[in-house]
Amino acid sequence: MALKDEIARRRTFAIISHPDAGKTTLTEKLLLFGGAIHVAGAVKSNKIKKTATSDWMEIEKQRGISVATSVMGFNYGDYKINILDTPGHQDFAEDTYRTLTAVDSVIIVVDVAKGVEQQTRKLMEVCRMRNTPVIIFVNKLDREGRDPFDILDELESELKIKVRPLSWPINIGAKFKGVYNIFEHSLDLFTPDKQRVSERVEIESVDDPRIDENVGEVDAAKLREDLELIEGVYPEFDVEEYLEGRVAPVFFGSALNTFGVKELLDCFVQIAPAPRATNAEEREIKPDEEGFSGFVFKIHANMDPNHRSCIAFVKVCSGKFERNAPYRHIRSGKTMKFAAPTAFMAQKKNIVDEAYPGDIVGIPDTGNFKIGDTLTSGETLHFKGLPSFSPEMFKYIENSDPMKAKQLDKGIQQLMDEGVAQLFVNQFNGRKIIGTVGQLQFEVIQYRLLHEYGAQCRWEPISLYKACWIESDDPEALAAFKKRKFQFMAVDREGRDVFLADSNYVLQMAQNDFPKIRFHFTSEF
Ligand code: G4P
Repeated sequence: MALKDEIARRRTFAIISHPDAGKTTLTEKLLLFGGAIHVAGAVKSNKIKKTATSDWMEIEKQRGISVATSVMGFNYGDYKINILDTPGHQDFAEDTYRTLTAVDSVIIVVDVAKGVEQQTRKLMEVCRMRNTPVIIFVNKLDREGRDPFDILDELESELKIKVRPLSWPINIGAKFKGVYNIFEHSLDLFTPDKQRVSERVEIESVDDPRIDENVGEVDAAKLREDLELIEGVYPEFDVEEYLEGRVAPVFFGSALNTFGVKELLDCFVQIAPAPRATNAEEREIKPDEEGFSGFVFKIHANMDPNHRSCIAFVKVCSGKFERNAPYRHIRSGKTMKFAAPTAFMAQKKNIVDEAYPGDIVGIPDTGNFKIGDTLTSGETLHFKGLPSFSPEMFKYIENSDPMKAKQLDKGIQQLMDEGVAQLFVNQFNGRKIIGTVGQLQFEVIQYRLLHEYGAQCRWEPISLYKACWIESDDPEALAAFKKRKFQFMAVDREGRDVFLADSNYVLQMAQNDFPKIRFHFTSEF
């Protein structure tokens, strides 16, 4: 198959949700349709069991097991689908942010009873930054929940995106009868069954009497009324608007009952984007260019101290990736060949000979790779768009064993390369500060430094609100700011200036007092 056709048939996306909304269940059902698994319950996804939330060793074990499900590739009709899994635990949110840089679109799962929850809001912000097209699946319609119109309003206001229902539920909870598929004009009747696909009734239009026959006159009348309202309130669905990330189509269903999932998938493969151009610092790279290029968006470390090995996940951006072909690792300038790259198909990790744009290749690594690294056939390119976000928790990291200072430095450096957390060095006193999105990372870092590097660290408290990257077109204003705030200035790993604000108030005051300084809450600006 020609490169162009391989690209056109690929759909690489992530499913995101607040924990418990039904991401794992939906993923599993999509795999069932793709024939990648044959029974429900076969997916041990990145989902971290609730019982283990305080036991991070257990979490890491589960994460370790889930390497194989980090990417789930399968064929569906003519399409090649790659689902990139994201960790459910919010302490690993940074992993999710980075995964979102490697997808072409996103499906958001929302619980009909709970509506938009905190983590969904945050992840949507990341999608908005990149104009990633999103489809929303409102889940658990078999349970009592909120009025679908209220849900739509909430999606619009909380996720800050226009919405357009493409299916519509007939009642919810105990009285749930099915959904009307606005996209394809059909009626799907609900049968609570975890393994079976729902029954579809082909209809001509909303006036078709078969609707009344199947759901009863009262519900049919209500459906017609609702649909009329929808047509009046929401403009016609425009695929272009969706592709630009300006409108999100909404589907209703029940993942657990495999209801509404096929409709979602069928619409998804039709409208979701194939791999698109990627921006590098030098230029825009189109997927159908002949030369191979790709970037590392995730590094998964093996927790076994005897085998310090990792898998670097490379997203192919252009050309064809081939096993044993010489590729240039841009940061080091070295030429590398990969004898055992793996791809992820039907839940199995296999050695692959080739991969195409949109695909993810796993490369066994012993410490050569860093998040954001670019590989190419030769051209010097640096892919943009792997932002670090301001961490939410900060601690000083101190050496507890003076004999092992070198090991500690090396360990910290490598863990930061893997993207476990962020390091800032205070410009005033030279102390190292680690910033994370969750408490668990501090424990992970301490444990790994000891077991993998033989270094002992201890944490000391520091009260900080946010780290902001600062810049200005006026060097004098920048110098004045740094002078005034000298105790709170740090550098990140790239040597960029970072202001460590200890409270929201201080940050607001700084923004008011120094209008010429731009404050950024992500490292990409
Ligand atoms: P997550 O990955 O987003 O965290 O959610 P997950 O799919 O694990 O779903 C969370 C819980 O919600 C699970 O129940 C799951 O069975 C249930 N669920 C998912 N989809 C639906 C649905 O359409 N209807 C209903 N009623 N429930 C749904 P659990 O009891 O936490 O786990 P389990 O013991 O069933 O696995």
